[in-house]
Amino acid sequence: MPRGIGRAVVAAALCVAASAAGLLAGAADARTAARCPWMSPTMQPNVRAARLLAAMTVNDKLALLTGVVPATALQVTDGGPVFVGYVPGNPSLCIPALTLDDGPSGIGNGQLGTTAFPVPIAQAATWDTALERSFGRALGLEAWQKGVDVVLAPNVNIARVPENGRNFEAFGEDPFLSGQTAAAAIEGIQQNPVIATVKHFAVNSQETNRYYVSSNVDDRTLHEIYLPPFETAVQAGVGAVMCAYGQVNAVFACQDPALLKTVLRGEFGFRGLVMSDWGATWSTVQSADGGLDLEMPGAKFFGPALANAVATGAVTTETIDRMARHLLVTMFQRGIFDHPPPARASVYLADVSTPADQSVALRLAEESTVLLKNAPGTLPLRLGRGKSIAVIGAPAGFGDMTYASGGGSSFVSASVVAPLPAITARAAKAGDTVVSADGSDAGAAAALARSSSVAVVFAYDQEREGQDRPGLELPAGQDQLIEAVAQANPHTIVVLDTGGPVLMPWLDEVAAVTEAWYPGERDGDAIAAILFGDAEPGGRLPETFPSSDAAVPVATPDQWPGANDAQDASFSEGLDVGYRWYDKNKVAPLFPFGYGLSYTTFSYSHLHVHRTGSRFAVSFTVKNVGARAGSDVPQLYVDDPAAAGEPPKQLKGYQRVFLRPGRSVLVTLALNARSFSQWNSTSRSWAVTPGLYRILVGASSRDIRLRGFIRQP
Ligand code: NOJ
Repeated sequence: MPRGIGRAVVAAALCVAASAAGLLAGAADARTAARCPWMSPTMQPNVRAARLLAAMTVNDKLALLTGVVPATALQVTDGGPVFVGYVPGNPSLCIPALTLDDGPSGIGNGQLGTTAFPVPIAQAATWDTALERSFGRALGLEAWQKGVDVVLAPNVNIARVPENGRNFEAFGEDPFLSGQTAAAAIEGIQQNPVIATVKHFAVNSQETNRYYVSSNVDDRTLHEIYLPPFETAVQAGVGAVMCAYGQVNAVFACQDPALLKTVLRGEFGFRGLVMSDWGATWSTVQSADGGLDLEMPGAKFFGPALANAVATGAVTTETIDRMARHLLVTMFQRGIFDHPPPARASVYLADVSTPADQSVALRLAEESTVLLKNAPGTLPLRLGRGKSIAVIGAPAGFGDMTYASGGGSSFVSASVVAPLPAITARAAKAGDTVVSADGSDAGAAAALARSSSVAVVFAYDQEREGQDRPGLELPAGQDQLIEAVAQANPHTIVVLDTGGPVLMPWLDEVAAVTEAWYPGERDGDAIAAILFGDAEPGGRLPETFPSSDAAVPVATPDQWPGANDAQDASFSEGLDVGYRWYDKNKVAPLFPFGYGLSYTTFSYSHLHVHRTGSRFAVSFTVKNVGARAGSDVPQLYVDDPAAAGEPPKQLKGYQRVFLRPGRSVLVTLALNARSFSQWNSTSRSWAVTPGLYRILVGASSRDIRLRGFIRQP
C-alpha cells in the first residue's frame, strides 16, 4: 500500500478492515449495536468505557489486566514471535484483542517488512521535531498495518551514564530535548489508531543489575532531570506508560504509588494505561494498589493471584474497575475499537515499508550524523577523476551489518544498504575508485590507505540491552586500526557507528570525524551522500562526549554500577547530569552537548527579549555566511540566579533552520514560567526564584554567541 499522509491511507484501509470484520454490514451492525452499545463512536470514550464496564463481570475485567504468554494466539504463519505482548479480546463484549510490539527504532520483535529507522539517540541528534513527527507517523502506520495496536516507544530515560547499554535507545542527556523529541514521536505515532507507550517510568539508567538496582535519587533531581520527558509525553497525549525495571529509592517502580499515583496521575494528570515492563511486576496487592494496571507479559502476579486477592477483599473491586477503565478508555480514545487493523493472519508476510518511510529513514540518518572534526579541505570529498578511496572497517559492509541498529528488544531486522557499495557507486559517478579492507588486519589496512588518496575508516561499538559497556574505548582493537591507517594516510576520515560517546585517542591524527550512530537501513546511502556533499551532516550532539572515562559526572562505583554489587546506585551527582556537570565543574569535554559542525558557517545577531506577562519570546537572527546551503540548530540556554541552586546553564529552547548562502532568518523561541522554575520538594510545586536570569543563545552548550537577561519576577 502506498503511504502518503497517514490519515487518508488509514481511512481507506480502515474501511476495508472494518467491512471485513462485518462491522459496517447493516444487519450485523444492528446486532452489534444492540449487544455492545459502547461500540457507537458518537459517545465520549469515558462514557463508552463506563457502559462497557457496567456490562462486565469481575472476571471479564481481570482478564484484561494481564497478557498471555507465549503471544502465539495470533501467530498464524511460520516465524515469529510477531507480537511481544498480547492481551486476549472478549468477543461477546466486542472487546478486540490488544497486540503490543517494540519500538523505538521501528516495528521490531521479528516482524518482517518494516522499516529499520535510525536509533533514538540519532533521532535526538537531528533536533528536528517536524522530522521526528514524520518518523512517528510512519512508525504508527507500519504498526497498524502489521496488526499492532500498541507501540512500545518512545524510550525517554535520561543518559546519565554513557556506558549504559541502552544509551542508543533514548534521546540523550537533556530533559528538554528528550521531552520535545518524545512529544513529536508520540504525536506522529498516535495520528494512527495505535497507542504509543512512553517508557521506562522512571529513571532506569543502567543495564547492570537492571531488574533490582535501586536508583537512589533525591526528589528535586527526579523532578528536574528524570521526570520531565514523561510529563511532556503526557501533555502530548501519550496513551500508555510503561513502568520500569528496578527500584527508585528502594521501591520497585511498578508498585510505587509515589511515582505512579502522586506524580504520574496527580502531578502530570495522566489518564491512560500503566503497563509493567516485561517481568517488572513484583507483587499482586502492592502493585494493584500502587498504580499498575496491566502486568506484562504473563499472569504471574495478576491473573489468578489477583482474582484471589479480590475474592478475599485484599484488593477492592473499585481498584479493579479503575485498572480496567484506564485500559478501556485508552483503547476507545485511540480508536482501537473503531479502527481494527487488517486481519492479522494476512499481514505477517506483508511488506509495509514504503519508499516514503525509507526516505524518512534516510533523512533522519543524514540529519543526525554529527560532523565532529573537519580539517580544512577534507569534507565534503572533492576528488575528481582517477583518485582512490580506501574504505576500511567492519561496519563498511563486512559481516552481517548489525552495526546499523542497537541490540535487544528495539532491534529491527531489515536489509541494510551498506556503506561500501553505496560509496563505490557514488565514487564511480565522480570518476573515483574504491578499494576496501575489513580492518581485521591493521597492517593490511594501513598498506591500502598508504596507496590511496583518502581513507575512510568505519568504527563501531555494539551496545545492547541487558548489559552495560565495560568502558568508553572502541572495542576490538579499533583504536590501533585507526592509528595505523592515520599514520599511513594523513587524509583519514573516521566514521563512527556507535550508540553513544567513545574515546578518541587518535583524534589529533585524523583529518575528519563523523558520528553516524546506528543509522538504520539507509546507512550507506546517507553516509555516501554526506561524504560527497550531496547532503550535509546535520546533527548536533544530544550527549556530551568526555575526554576520558575519569572526567565524567558519574565516576565512582557507588554511582555506577552501584554499591553492594550494583544493588544501590547513588545519584550523588544530583542535578549535575551531562553538560550541567561539565559546566559546573569547569571540565572540558572532548565534544560538548549541542555541538556539531556544518559544511557552511552561521552568524548570530540581534538578540531581543519580549515579555508578555509570565511568557517571553526570545528572538535573534541567524545568517548563513558560508558558501553553501546548510542547516543550523541555534540553542537557548537559561542561567538561573545563584540562589536557585541550579547548574550553570540549562537548555530551554532550540530550532533547526535551513538557509541558503547569504540568507538569514529571524528565530523566535518561547519561554514560559516553567523555563525559569525550580522544583520545591517541600511545597511539591514549581516556583521561580527571584533574581536575574541570563539568556544564552549559541551553537552548542560551549559556544554561546548572544547574551541577554530577564529579571524575575
Ligand atoms: C524489555 C524492555 O525493557 C522494554 O523496553 C521492551 O518494550 C520490552 N522488553 C518488550 O520487548
